[in-house]
Amino acid sequence: MAEEAVLGYLKNNDEIKDSGDFAAERGIDHNEIVNVIKSLHGFRYVDAQDIKRETWVLTDEGNTYATLGSPEIQLMLAIPPEGISRDELQAEKVEHVEDRVKDLLLQIQQGQVIGADDIKALKARKLIVPQTWKGYSVKKGPNYAPKRKKVVTDLTRENFQSGEWKEIEFKEYNYSAKGQPLEGGSLHPLFWNFDSLFQPQQHPARDSHDTFFLETPSTTKKLPEDYVQRVKQIHEFGGYESRGYAYDWKREEANKNLLRTHTTAVSSRMLYQLAQKPFAPKKYFSIDRVFRNEAVDRTHLAEFHQIEGLVCDQGLSLRDLIGVLHDFFSRLGMTKLKFKPAYNPYTEPSMEIFSYHEGFKKWVEVGNSGMFRPEMLRPMGLPEDVQVIAWGLSLERPTMIMYGIDNIRDLFGHKVDLGLIKKNSICRLGIE
Ligand code: PHE
Repeated sequence: MAEEAVLGYLKNNDEIKDSGDFAAERGIDHNEIVNVIKSLHGFRYVDAQDIKRETWVLTDEGNTYATLGSPEIQLMLAIPPEGISRDELQAEKVEHVEDRVKDLLLQIQQGQVIGADDIKALKARKLIVPQTWKGYSVKKGPNYAPKRKKVVTDLTRENFQSGEWKEIEFKEYNYSAKGQPLEGGSLHPLFWNFDSLFQPQQHPARDSHDTFFLETPSTTKKLPEDYVQRVKQIHEFGGYESRGYAYDWKREEANKNLLRTHTTAVSSRMLYQLAQKPFAPKKYFSIDRVFRNEAVDRTHLAEFHQIEGLVCDQGLSLRDLIGVLHDFFSRLGMTKLKFKPAYNPYTEPSMEIFSYHEGFKKWVEVGNSGMFRPEMLRPMGLPEDVQVIAWGLSLERPTMIMYGIDNIRDLFGHKVDLGLIKKNSICRLGIE
């Protein structure tokens, strides 16, 4: 109704001079008119100019007197010439009194203008206070129409079928509208262990199966030549009580750059470096990304992370390895472990590690381990009496067990479950 009044009036008139008067004349609430003007102005149906006026409004006390009459007049008129007792006076009901204060207050209440002296007197008695009145003067805007057009946000099949689409006016994009608030800020359980530590994500290393090879640069240029020769020797002819593989070892194959398929590439480089100095016992650990050319399913990804560790010392045995793995996994809350004999070209003996997944209700492989073979260690130059126990664990699988996640793709990769990350606590303190 207010909108029709404004648009309708402007159809035949140039201007609404004062929204206050306009509202009063039509008996419409001024606030309602103001809201309509603001909205019409936003869509440029009208141009609106601010008007400000200093006005007076009644205080609570002023309002009381405007309703009940001023106290002094009531008292004065209630006292007859001969006097009256207080009890009688209180019982008296005054009628037909002329109460100027009350009248003035009523006039102000209705927005009428009263004389400056009266204003001063009422203000001194704190019956009125000043207030800035805000309104508008309004003219037609560039988009003026006697009726607001309905703007459409979506084009529907019905619009096409009925031919309506020709007339439809579309709502304009509001480029300054605020976007949805961001809900990010929680930590991904893996990135806490990895990206936040600024670990590099790629290192070329070597493997033969299921591997992503690099196209540029396709080969490596720098290898320690004497070590390369000892490696060739052990592959082709053996040594250190090994018979070797008895085949033609090819340098070109060894030179190929690839995305590492396991963090054991890191261990081997570190052990080689260690072997260049006089021997000292060492422990090495790495957490890093590895790449395998695999079919992706609920427990396999082509890119994942491994946690690798090794202890290098004299007199180590398989018992030490089993002990370390038990300790490591039980601190992650995984006490149900099984070890299974396995085969790796670089370890003997080798053991696969399984942990019981409560969700899957089955044993899940979480890692692989073993004692590095002399065929690996001796060409590096490590002393004969030195053993290396080592393990390479998936980071994702134990994480799945720990957090009860049954699809690895929810945890890492392009299908990662953002909801899961958002719901996650910002950090996790200690695991009993
Ligand atoms: N490289 C092995 C894997 O990726 C793990 C491993 C590391 C095994 C060290 C033995 C010793 O599964």
